[in-house]
Amino acid sequence: MELLKVYSQSLEEELEKAVLIREPEQLYEPIRYIITLGGKRLRPVLTLLSCDFFGKDYKAAMNAALAVELFHNFSLIHDDIMDNAPLRRGEETVHEKWDLNTGILSGDAMLILAYKLFEAYEPQLFRDLARLFSKTAIEVCEGQQYDVDFERRDDVTIDEYIRMIDYKTAVLIGASMKMGAIVAGASVSCQENIYEFGRNLGIAFQLQDDYLDAFGNPESFGKQIGGDIIANKKTFLYLTALKLCNPSEAAELRHLYSISPKDPSEKINIVKRLFESSGAVEAAEKEISLYTNKANKVLDTIQISEERKESLREFGEWLMQRKV
Ligand code: IPE
Ligand code: IPE
Ligand code: MG
Ligand code: MG
Ligand code: MG
Repeated sequence: MELLKVYSQSLEEELEKAVLIREPEQLYEPIRYIITLGGKRLRPVLTLLSCDFFGKDYKAAMNAALAVELFHNFSLIHDDIMDNAPLRRGEETVHEKWDLNTGILSGDAMLILAYKLFEAYEPQLFRDLARLFSKTAIEVCEGQQYDVDFERRDDVTIDEYIRMIDYKTAVLIGASMKMGAIVAGASVSCQENIYEFGRNLGIAFQLQDDYLDAFGNPESFGKQIGGDIIANKKTFLYLTALKLCNPSEAAELRHLYSISPKDPSEKINIVKRLFESSGAVEAAEKEISLYTNKANKVLDTIQISEERKESLREFGEWLMQRKV
């Protein structure tokens, strides 16, 4: 989509300005590092696109878009600490390249820089944006806590898993779009509907992320393959494989998810084979389609042109085909 290029170019220029290095360098350098490593910029682009689609110049939503991307990157720095992840966007994670304390404090600073960006909006808009942002941010924390709690639990249900990814990932994608709608002055029902569109897409997106974590190409995915298996994450693939495989395979899977071997390569291979042979991979593909379709259904209720709806559908499709 040509439009997306316009948004991303201007977003990159603004991001560049938002992460200039100041003193103390140890605080600001990691912020610049993680931001300039890139990423898909999915959330801020959706904020700009949503503002544009609801009838206002996308630049009006630039600060909200920057805030969303800074928040997302803050959550990645802390997530990588919590997940003990060595790689992000094909490079060393912040806590590996520097250290734990640097990751904690640079992350905190990014969160605050994100909030500051709303100060540029007039009081009514500021209040609406900050309110949505705070609600979303606390939900992300709740989702992250469930994610970590689930590593140690062996009775997680698929419903619980869906609620966890809704909070840790989907609500931010919904909020990114809703912020664009708020800035554009769209009706409350449009705001709610675009939020639901983004949220359903977000659930599909995290399901896909979990799939790529096990089966992605290490070169293009940019993260450690098998990281979720090493950390005993109770993903859709795992929970579904448990349900679908025979009792002895299920016992093996449960056992593998109760240990943390020094060399995890054998564990990863066996688990991936079980994910495939049990039919969990196909079930995950179906689940991804289910949530993508849910998102597209919500789109039918939004008052924007058919052409714009088509662009949003295409965006969803593109997202689900991603390998990165
Ligand atoms: C990674 O998000 C964290 C998840 C919610 C899965 P992205 O896949 O959007 O990461 P970047 O920003 O493109 O690197
Ligand atoms: C991350 O989920 C969600 C947030 C950062 C809030 P993951 O832990 O699956 O994200 P990746 O795979 O490390 O990017
Ligand atoms: Mg992670
Ligand atoms: Mg995580
Ligand atoms: Mg992941």
